[in-house]
Amino acid sequence: MEHSSVDTAPYLAVRNLRKQYPKQAQPAVDEVSFTLASGRLLALLGPNGAGKTTTIKMIAGLVLPSFGEVRVLGQDVIQQRQAAMRHIGAVLEGARNLYWRLSAWENLLYFGAVRLVPPRVLRQRAEELLHLVGLHDDKDREVRHFSRGMQQKLAIAAALLHDPDLLLLDEPTLELDVEAARVVEKTVINLARERGKAIVLTTHQMDLAERVADEIFVIHRGRQVAYAETNQLLQEYNLHRQTVQVSLCAPLASQQLADLQQTYPALSISGNGRFPSLTCTIDEQATLVQLLAHLDRAGIGIETVSYQRARLEDVFVSLTTGAQP
Ligand SMILES: Nc1ncnc2c1ncn2[C@@H]1O[C@H](COP(=O)(O)OP(=O)(O)OP(=O)(O)O)[C@@H](O)[C@H]1O
Ligand SMILES: [Mg+2]
Repeated sequence: MEHSSVDTAPYLAVRNLRKQYPKQAQPAVDEVSFTLASGRLLALLGPNGAGKTTTIKMIAGLVLPSFGEVRVLGQDVIQQRQAAMRHIGAVLEGARNLYWRLSAWENLLYFGAVRLVPPRVLRQRAEELLHLVGLHDDKDREVRHFSRGMQQKLAIAAALLHDPDLLLLDEPTLELDVEAARVVEKTVINLARERGKAIVLTTHQMDLAERVADEIFVIHRGRQVAYAETNQLLQEYNLHRQTVQVSLCAPLASQQLADLQQTYPALSISGNGRFPSLTCTIDEQATLVQLLAHLDRAGIGIETVSYQRARLEDVFVSLTTGAQP
C-alpha cells in the first residue's frame, strides 16, 4: 500500500488490549496500549512469558482479544478483518512460514498468490525482495536445504509480498548467526527508514533493540512497565542512576581502603589498572560529591572521573526484576 502524508490515523493503534486465556490465573496481556506511526520501529521487550507473542498475535488478528481493540490504518483487525489484513505482514515465532519442498522463488509466488498479488506485480516484487534479503542467488533451491538464517530471511521476504504497511516480527534474529542477524537487522532498519513501514519486533537481544528501535515498550507479566522513545528511556534512567568510575593516581594505603569500604559498602574497588579505580552506581549527584570529598579529606589523589552511560540491558533488568507485583 502507498503511504501518504495525508493519512491521519496512526499505522497501528493498540488500545486497552487484554487476553485472558482459559484456565489461567492471570491475563497473559492486560491493559496494553500504544500507537505507531509510519517509518517507526517499536521493540516489544519482556522476559519469557511476559505476553509479547500474545500481543503480536492479537495485532495480527490471530488471537482474539478478551478486551480492547487493534486498528491498522484505522481498520479494526477483528471487525474489518480483510481490509486490515491487507496492511499487515507477520513473521511469527517458530511458525512454519514456508513450504519446504518448494524453492524460494516458488514459495514467494505461492504466498503472493495467496495474498492476491497480481501476477505481474508479484514476479517483480519477488525479484526485488530476494535481492533485498540477499537470497537472489539461491532462489531456485528448495527451502528444505536452506539454513535457519536463510529461511528466516525468506520468511521476511514472503511477509512483504503484498507490500504491507505494518510488519510484525516475533524474534526475527532468534538462532541466527552474527552475519545473518546483521542482514535481518539492516533489512528491518531499511524497511522503516526508506520505505516508511511501521515495524513491531520482539527480541531478547537488548543490544539489537537499542540499535534499531525508535520506541521501546517493556511488558512484564502482561502489563506495561515502560513505553518511551529509546533515547528518552535511556536518558531518564541515566538521570536517576549512573555508574561512575573514579580512577586514582596513587595506590591506596590499607587504612584508606578499609575506610572507603566501610563508608561505601556498595563501592567496587578494582586494581586492574596502574592504580586502583572505584566504581559505584549513584542515584543522585550528592552521593558523588560526598565520595569525592571523602577522597579529598583522606588525601587520595583523583586522576579521572567518568560516567558510564547505561545500556538498554541495564534499564531492562531494572524494570523487570524485583519490585513489580
Ligand atoms: N494458547 C495459550 N493458552 C494458554 N496460555 C497461553 C497460551 N499462549 C500463551 N500462554 C501464556 O500466556 C503468557 C504469555 O505468553 P507469551 O507467549 O505471549 O509470552 P512471550 O512474552 O512471547 O514469551 P517468550 O519470550 O518466551 O516468547 C504465558 O504465561 C503463557 O504461558
Ligand atoms: Mg514469544
